Order: sequence, then structure tokens, then C-alpha cells
Amino acid sequence: MSGSVLTEPLLFYLRQPMSEELSHEQLVAFADQFGTPLYVYHAERIKEQYNKLLTSFAGADVRFFYAAKALTNINILRYIKNTGCNIDCSSINEAKLAVVAGFEPENILYTSNNIAFEEIEEAQRMGIHINIDSISNLRKFGLKFGHNYPVGIRLRPNIMAGGNLKISTGHADSKFGVPLEDIEEVLQVVKETGLFIRTLHIHTGSEIQDVEVFAKGIEVLFDVVKYFPELEVIDLGGGFKVPYKPGDEGTDIELLGKKVKEEFEWFEKKYNRHLQVWFEPGKYIVSEAGYFISKVNVLKPAGEAIFAGVDTGLNHLIRPMFYGAYHEIENITNPTGEKKLYNVVGNICETDTFAEDRLLPEVREGDYLVFRNAGAYCFEMSSHYNSRFKPAEIMVKENNAYLIRKRDELKDLLSGQAEINS
Ligand code: LLP
Repeated sequence: MSGSVLTEPLLFYLRQPMSEELSHEQLVAFADQFGTPLYVYHAERIKEQYNKLLTSFAGADVRFFYAAKALTNINILRYIKNTGCNIDCSSINEAKLAVVAGFEPENILYTSNNIAFEEIEEAQRMGIHINIDSISNLRKFGLKFGHNYPVGIRLRPNIMAGGNLKISTGHADSKFGVPLEDIEEVLQVVKETGLFIRTLHIHTGSEIQDVEVFAKGIEVLFDVVKYFPELEVIDLGGGFKVPYKPGDEGTDIELLGKKVKEEFEWFEKKYNRHLQVWFEPGKYIVSEAGYFISKVNVLKPAGEAIFAGVDTGLNHLIRPMFYGAYHEIENITNPTGEKKLYNVVGNICETDTFAEDRLLPEVREGDYLVFRNAGAYCFEMSSHYNSRFKPAEIMVKENNAYLIRKRDELKDLLSGQAEINS
């Protein structure tokens, strides 16, 4: 365990029994105790999401690999491991963190994209599952390991899907995967090198609401299974949508479970071949378990609205500025105040707007505003921009709040810098 992560439980006895959501009172108490800005993760909510997957896919031969890139705090990884979920990694370092968290190699998947072959060799030495996404690396892998190490191919299925173009990964102009139209060349490489292709993988995007998109992916893959006699697994990636806005609908996971079972049973009957299904959900597992609490520093006029300037910025939560993402905001210290229009903005030295013309209960300087859906790709995409400290992170588990990452200090900004005689 690294020195910067505190394992000592800072016990905090909550006044209320744990429910599916953390209450305003609980969040206010955390902010008072641990300071702001503060990321809060509700462990039981993570488990609940994983259990929903298990229930919805009951009866299917399915494995879920949590897409670690969404949130990699080691305590979160360990908690997810203890739920029984597997893990999907997008870099060799994530794979190493997975090992630190206690995942067995058999339960670690590395879905790579445009990486150096040396990194694939390292993953092979770790004994983990690997999905390779270029013919160039596939050829190198085949030449080196031949039939000795089963491997997966990440295909680009040419399907447009996902919440916005930045998070769409399976379309015909996307950098991800081996284009489906290059399948002949793939088969040539397999033939020449004797590769053992165990898995075919696709990941078409994030925030895919429509179950039919997954069905289309299955159809595309079923079409090419015939070329791979040793295939055991179809990996459909991640991308399940969760609600962000009031009225938003997430992916209908029950329907997806039913559809997947039907499709794979049909395939098995028709071709007398059994295939296992893998998924790599990130947002679905952790997004709704996360809360990001900030404090209002200043109020300023903003035309019809009012600027609420908070003690955080795009350095800590970049999704609104980067993707135009919507995060629900609640005023947890004045929830019954008269509703007014606010532009919630950060403290970074460039435009960093979290929300424009948002109706919120009256905001006063010193109020705490909480951003919802702050579990996935929030802390994980944070930076030290403007030399501001990264926020602290806490995990709430079985009614106790644990500090799982301390707030930065000045030495953290200098750490790793070499001082020369400049
Ligand atoms: N598998 C692969 C190969 C992926 O590239 C991703 C996400 C996932 C699984 C998990 O997708 P999820 O279930 O979380 O949608 N930073 C963006 C999302 C980028 C997703 C990148 N790949 C955001 O904040 O919306």
C-alpha cells in the first residue's frame, strides 16, 4: 500500500441507516469533517449495480470485467474484487494496480489500443487476458507466441454508437480496433503464425442506451465466428448508459440480459458451438455511487442568472467542459431555498462552467453544492492544472466513512520534479 493512501479507517458513525443514496445530511457531515472539494463513493451502491447485472443475466454464461479506467482508487478496486467482479484494464499500469488490489491474472483483462508491443509482452508475462487491436501487434504476437498463448482481437465493427462523438469508438472513422474489412489479412496472420484466437472483442462507445446496438454488435461478430474455430469468448465491451439528468433512461439491463441469452442460445443451437459472453462496464458500476462536494466561494451577477463560483474547477471534474456532460447539482445546505437561476463556475483561470442557467435552491456563499454521478471518469480524469491540489476521496462502507486518498499538499506538486541549477 502506498504511503499516500490511508488505510486507517476514520470512523464516522452516520446518524441514519444506510439507504440506496447518501442523504444531504450525511454529505454535509462528510464535507464538514473532511473538507471540500471532496469525492465520496458509496460502496454498497457499487455492489448493488454489480448485483443488478448478475440478476439480469442469470442463466447466461457471462463474465463482467469492471473497466478500471472509470475509477482506480485501490480501495475501490479491492472492493469491486470482493464483490466477485473481474477487471478490464486499459494500460499496463492499471493491470499492475489490479494485481495490487488482489485480482488473479485469470480475472484480469487488458484491452489495449495503439500500444507498444513491449507492453503486450509484459501483459503476457503477467498471465492476463489480452485483446490486441492492430494487425501489426497481432502479427508480432503470433510470431513470438504462436499457439501457446490464447489471445483476443479487438475488431472495429463500423457501428456508430455512444453518447457523443468523443466517446464513440466503433464507427468507421474510429482509431480503435482492427477494421472488419481487414478480416482477410487477420486470417492470413493467424494462418501464418498459428495464433490461438480465443476472443473476439468490440467496444462501440460509452452511454449506449439502445439495446439494439448491442444486438447489432452480436450480429456482426456472429458473422465472423466461423473463421475462428478455437473461439471461446465474445467480448462486447462496456458502454451501458446510466441516467445523469432527471428523466434520463439508462440501458434496460434486464432486456439486454434477456436478449443476450436468446441470441447466444440461438447461436449454440444453430451451430452447435458454445460461446461465453464478456462485458466491460465502467460507468454502470461506479458512476452513480459517486458524489463530488464543493463549497461556494463567491456569488457574482451573470445577466439574468447569478454566478456561483465554487472551490473546484475543470481540473477536478472535466466532463462538463470536455464532453458538454450534464451533472445534476444539489444545494445540500439550503435544499428548500427559493429556486433561482445560476451559472455554476469553477476557480480555474479559464472558462470552466459546470452548469449554465441551472435552477437551484438559493445559493449562498459557503453553501455546499454536490455534483451527482461523480464516480466514473471524474476524479480519474482530474489534474493539477493551476497547481491546485487534487481533492480528497472517501469511501462510505457499512455506515463508516474512510479516507481513501488524502488531499494533496505542496510537496505532492513538487514530487517527481528534479531540481537542477536553473
Ligand atoms: N471497454 C473499453 C475497451 C473501453 O474503451 C471503455 C471505455 C469501457 C470498456 C467502459 O465504458 P463505460 O462502460 O464506462 O461506458 N471519459 C468518458 C468515457 C470514456 C470511455 C472510454 N472507454 C466519459 O467521461 O464519458
